[in-house]
Amino acid sequence: MKTDRTMSSRYMQWAKTCSTARFNLATSGVLTVARSEFPLQDAALEITAPGGYGYPPLLQRLSKYTGAAEQCIVTAIGTSMANHLAFAAVLERGDEVLIEQPGYGPLIDVAEYLGATVKRLPRRAEARFAIDPAELDQMITSRTKLIVLTNLHNPSGALLDAETLREVGRIAHDAGTHVLVDEVYLEMLADAPRAFPLGEGFGDANPFIITSSLTKAYGLSGLRCGWILASPDLAKRIWLLNDLFGVNAAHLAERASVVAFDHLGQFRQRASALLRENGALLDSFLDSRPDLDCVRPPAGTVVFPKLHAVHAAGFVKFLRERYEVSVVPGEFFDAPDHFRIGIGGETAELRGGLERMAAALDSFHDSSNRVISS
Ligand SMILES: Cc1ncc(COP(=O)(O)O)c(C=O)c1O
Repeated sequence: MKTDRTMSSRYMQWAKTCSTARFNLATSGVLTVARSEFPLQDAALEITAPGGYGYPPLLQRLSKYTGAAEQCIVTAIGTSMANHLAFAAVLERGDEVLIEQPGYGPLIDVAEYLGATVKRLPRRAEARFAIDPAELDQMITSRTKLIVLTNLHNPSGALLDAETLREVGRIAHDAGTHVLVDEVYLEMLADAPRAFPLGEGFGDANPFIITSSLTKAYGLSGLRCGWILASPDLAKRIWLLNDLFGVNAAHLAERASVVAFDHLGQFRQRASALLRENGALLDSFLDSRPDLDCVRPPAGTVVFPKLHAVHAAGFVKFLRERYEVSVVPGEFFDAPDHFRIGIGGETAELRGGLERMAAALDSFHDSSNRVISS
């Protein structure tokens, strides 16, 4: 049967099949941890555990890590499945969802797949990609059932401050809608304001749903260790809904995730050292490029510059074809004048990629000027 429903993710297909290059600056996570760096002893592994609603040792670690009570936690296969489950638990066909723009494509795809109507909440580069709670308030209707934000923002890396989050929570609570904050990149910022505890003042009616994972910040993408924080009633509904999807997680991955939590300090240090060095390279690159308008986030692995005067999509193609450097075209975030640079990879690769990007920008401007003046 043919259907008009969104049944795939254009961005994900591009990321899986087209994003790599000799200098790959299209990634958004921290360089993956090798097996030799991962402190997993065979004795810590078991293939099968009794099924249930969560693996108790993992729920315990998550409760300690997030500060949320165990009955507020649902484990999931990465932030991706966490988002899908949370959306599916609160949305019905025809409901409205407000999703930030620019925004991460799969969030929109999942909402559309579930039959929701997506409206876009602007996060403007001129406003440093901040959210205007008054504007958000104006956009909510009686059909709005979910507001979706990322923090840190993908693609810009912008951080939402506690005051904005509190205000958004209050607006959502008054309107009887939920706010999903995808915090997968916030894991990179230890002391950042987190939305779920901010919403606890509303008791059982906490409007916040948090999704996250260990995939991006710690280089542990292969574990697919994701989670959802939600009020106890909603968390229970999500567990029950999960029985229609994967039912249980792969137990080896749950065991390895427990090991990861028990050594998180080690992975955090590894990531901070890498990002300190890579962040310095990015800063000096951006300092040298007046042709790029770029909000510099307080942390994270991505920035989302805008290219002055020239066509960003044309530049991204030129950069890849002539200089073997890949970045993510802004069109995937519905912001075609921008492109996203990821700095979480190998330092040498980033250094080479940024040097080539500088050369490509100079050459691209030259050729654009020649076309204009001829
Ligand atoms: C905002 C956002 N959420 C979720 C994901 C997917 O995360 P995971 O690998 O944990 O499924 C990504 C990946 O790029 C992302 O950018």
